[in-house]
Amino acid sequence: MESKKLAAEKAVEYVKDGMIVGLGTGSTAYWAIQKIGQRVKEGLSIKAIATSKQSEDLAKELGITLLPFAEIDEIDVTIDGADEVDTHWNLIKGGGGALLREKIVAAASKQLIIIVDESKLALELGQFPLPVEIIPFGFEMTMRKLQKLGAEPVLRKAGDQAFVTDNGNYIADCHFGSIAQPEELHLTLNQIPGIVDNGLFIEMASVVIVGYANGTVRQLEK
Ligand code: A5P
Repeated sequence: MESKKLAAEKAVEYVKDGMIVGLGTGSTAYWAIQKIGQRVKEGLSIKAIATSKQSEDLAKELGITLLPFAEIDEIDVTIDGADEVDTHWNLIKGGGGALLREKIVAAASKQLIIIVDESKLALELGQFPLPVEIIPFGFEMTMRKLQKLGAEPVLRKAGDQAFVTDNGNYIADCHFGSIAQPEELHLTLNQIPGIVDNGLFIEMASVVIVGYANGTVRQLEK
């Protein structure tokens, strides 16, 4: 927890007065939102957009002003976690199920700052099962298509029901094993009808900040 917090607090140094800030989702982004909330109480003037209902609720609690997308052309900086980061800074995201909104917000951001603890660093993506957001209609067929790609998809559950995203969709957690060509896989997946998007974030991260168990924090160099 401490290493996640360290990375998060370092990232918040990028946030300056007057910015529009994308708020990520998950246990690492939680610390970034907390820190932004603290700086807002101290007088920082920013507006934010959240990547999930969960982060939106937290931001509201902390008195962070939120904007709807309708009022935004561009986001200055987004701070978000990841489930895996490879050596090219490609990412797997969506462990918390927020991948679609996270990707929409990331794609609208001038800078995407990824905050992780050292356990998320990988030589190749794929140890973490890739979350794929799928439409409930015909999801069994979509899962079979994923299986044909060699994925071993598992429908994510919340108790004994299917987990439902903020967008009303399901998540298939796909065990591909090592993903040698993430960009190719990303394109292949998103061509399948029924798939809304997948958790591969290709060349989207501008900065990666890592918190270590020994209490240090490091911004990676490419
Ligand atoms: C949310 O859907 C995810 O993309 C998170 O950003 C990712 O799972 C990292 O979460 P933690 O910071 O909780 O590990």
